[in-house]
Amino acid sequence: MKTIAVAAALLAILASPALADNVVDTLLKQYEKQGATAFNASAAQSMWTRDFVDAKTSEKRRCSSCHTEDLRRPGKQAVTGKVIEPLAPSANPKRLTDPEHIEKWFSRNCKWTLGRECTPQEKGDFLVMIRAK
Ligand code: HEC
Repeated sequence: MKTIAVAAALLAILASPALADNVVDTLLKQYEKQGATAFNASAAQSMWTRDFVDAKTSEKRRCSSCHTEDLRRPGKQAVTGKVIEPLAPSANPKRLTDPEHIEKWFSRNCKWTLGRECTPQEKGDFLVMIRAK
């Protein structure tokens, strides 16, 4: 019984990064079909901390407003104060394993932060950057 539990725990640890890799690779291929080219983690890195001014409230918004500048640390929802688990797969193996969750939150977060959807290129850049953390 104990051996099975240990084996299952080990499998879960081993499987997660591989799953995240598959999920990210599949999304990257989709983005390429939508016109994206060579993905660039450093473009995403500089966008992460860039200020975007909200048209309605004039407040400055950035990805790091909620996720902080260190993706291995927990973040905090800038509006509600709710804790957000770390985005870095190295700190949080559940990250980048569910394509629907990723797309849903790209959509919400890009609209809130940039005032528009992210392009396929930008989403791919973000994924490559986050995956390496
Ligand atoms: C207003 C707060 C807020 C801002 C700003 C924000 N996010 Fe998020 N983000 C969240 C929340 C809340 C979740 C969903 C909860 C969770 O996954 O822990 C999330 C989830 C995500 C996910 C899903 C990760 C996964 O494993 O499925 C990605 C990717 C992401 N955010 C990227 C971004 C990017 C890129 C930006 C900047 C364009 C950004 N976020 C700005 C709050 C924010």
